[in-house]
Order: sequence, then structure tokens, then C-alpha cells
Amino acid sequence: MEKPLVGIVMGSKSDLPLLEGAFKVLKEFNVPFTARVMSAHRTPAKAMEFAATAQENGIKVIICAAGMAAHLAGVMAAHTVLPVLGIPVASEPFNGLDALLATVQMPPGIPVGTVTAGKAGAKNAALMAVAILALSDEKLQAKLMQFRQAQTAQVEAADAELQASLAE
Ligand code: RP5
Repeated sequence: MEKPLVGIVMGSKSDLPLLEGAFKVLKEFNVPFTARVMSAHRTPAKAMEFAATAQENGIKVIICAAGMAAHLAGVMAAHTVLPVLGIPVASEPFNGLDALLATVQMPPGIPVGTVTAGKAGAKNAALMAVAILALSDEKLQAKLMQFRQAQTAQVEAADAELQASLAE
């Protein structure tokens, strides 16, 4: 198996369904990844060790998903200089606003690239990881361009279909 370039960490197994979209994107782009359940609060030593050793293990980007008092991405970022992307997970009673603020509100000096909560955030975190890796990988860059072109074509086709149906 290829060594993972992206490390995905979730605060709880309950976050797993949300991350399926991220897995799908990374698989589409043939980017090897690992995924772990590790919590900033429940398994802090493990989470810290993962972040501290990620670079020597070949990981280039870390993606963290956590809900509630979502400190996971921040803790990871505190223990590595690798880019860390944070996905806030929506949960009761604040529907993800709590996790969004906890993830995005990093003190200056320790950045976390925060995407939106939910499925769109999971997909975008994976695409952002691909974009970061593509900076030093021409083939991946070309695939990313193709992805964008296909996406554009899909929207144009949807618009053409709508125009046709309105003209009926
Ligand atoms: C966070 O608390 C996890 O990331 C999860 O989103 C949330 C709830 O965790 P569980 O109670 O479902 O394990 O640490």
C-alpha cells in the first residue's frame, strides 16, 4: 500500500458518515490517505502524537473533523507545521456554529484552514488537500483542472436543460 499523503482525523466515530465525501474525493484523485478516530479531549496524547509525527511519516496535509467544542484541528496545528484543514461537524444544540467558531477562531500564529460545516465542507477539505498536493505534482494539477472543467460542463448542461424546458 502507498504511504498516505493525507491524514484524516475525526473526533468520534459518529463523524465518519460525514467524511465519506472526503474519502470519495481523495479516491477519485488517487491520493493515498489514512483515516483515524482521535479526540482532542478523549485521547489527547494520541492526537498530539499523530500530529507531531505526521511529517516524518510522509503526510503532507492533515484534515480534522470535529463537533461541539471542536479543538481537534487546533491541537493538531499546534503540534505540526503541516497545513491543517478543519471541518466543523454539526451537532445539537447549536447546529455546528459552535464547532465552526471553535475551529476557525485560532489565535494568530497557529492557522487552521477552516471549511464550512457539513458535507460541502468535507468535500472541499479534500479538494483543498488535493490542490495543496497538486502544487508539486503536475499530473494531479492536470486532474484538478479536468475536475473543474467537468464540473463547469455539468452546470452548463443543467442551464441548457432548464432553458430548453422553459422554452417549451
Ligand atoms: C466531538 O464531539 C466529535 O468530533 C463529535 O462530533 C462530537 C460528539 O461525539 P460523540 O458523542 O458522538 O462521540 O468530539
